[in-house]
Amino acid sequence: MNTVQEILQKNYKDLLNHNIQTAKIDSEVILANILNTTRINLITKQDITLNKEQEDLFSKLVERRKQKEPVAYILNKKEFWNENYFVDKRVLIPRPETEILIELLLKKIKDKNKAYKVLDLGCGSGCLLISFLKEMRKSQGMGVDISSNALEVAKKNIELHNLNNRAKLMRLDLLTLHTKDKFDVIFSNPPYLSSSDYAKLSDDVKNFEPKQALVGGFNGVLYYKKIITLAQSALKKNGYLALELGDRQYRTISKLLQDHSFRILDKYQLINNEIRCILAAKM
Ligand SMILES: C[S@@+](CC[C@H](N)C(=O)[O-])C[C@H]1O[C@@H](n2cnc3c(N)ncnc32)[C@H](O)[C@@H]1O
Repeated sequence: MNTVQEILQKNYKDLLNHNIQTAKIDSEVILANILNTTRINLITKQDITLNKEQEDLFSKLVERRKQKEPVAYILNKKEFWNENYFVDKRVLIPRPETEILIELLLKKIKDKNKAYKVLDLGCGSGCLLISFLKEMRKSQGMGVDISSNALEVAKKNIELHNLNNRAKLMRLDLLTLHTKDKFDVIFSNPPYLSSSDYAKLSDDVKNFEPKQALVGGFNGVLYYKKIITLAQSALKKNGYLALELGDRQYRTISKLLQDHSFRILDKYQLINNEIRCILAAKM
């Protein structure tokens, strides 16, 4: 039987040989999870000897990582806005940049006791809707997604976060969606990759994450046209629209927003100068 230090060293090299660039962090996260501890706390456990069950499980999970499966799917867990979410192959793994949508909204909304009605278009795991509702304790919201698989995961997360009474889900195609309801906030991280950008993704993403969550039509802006038109009628006056964008889409989307009576309030730029998140208000 191996100690923590020994098994980490062995598997780290093995993962590197399989071209996993994040070999060190991945093997540590997987082992920390098995030992029910944090990655940082593993440092204090270097000399502990693993039992056979732990070693076997570790080898099994590392084997999956060698096949390029993302760690979040292997562990069925991803942190988003300081909370853990259940994730599996049925949903996109929540990305750190998506948290910016919550940040931009909360920067503008000063009174957290307001009772907002919110709509999440393409809710996936439910991470955006749930994070917002956990911050805004009197608000309620609806998440829609075309994928019944994704909605099953979102439902599980809503239950996990005790939000059954404030979060509803509906299976809908946002491209044909019409609603008479009025909302205070609409957010969306729609599929925004073009087919050619999709083709360039790494195997970790392409072979595991749902394509339907990633590809937004030929040039990637199909969904924004629909979301902005929908938001124009479904948002109350001064209501907020928070959108995540793909690379090189800001000019087109900001023009679309202006043409539909939206005022851009805030935006977030990545280090590569791409604008990734926008917050707009309906005039
Ligand atoms: C980029 S993922 C975002 C998931 C989640 N909101 C997040 O930020 O992690 C886009 C989501 O939109 C959903 N979707 C794709 N096409 C759709 C459509 N026509 N109508 C509704 N939802 C759709 C996908 O199933 C996926 O869950």
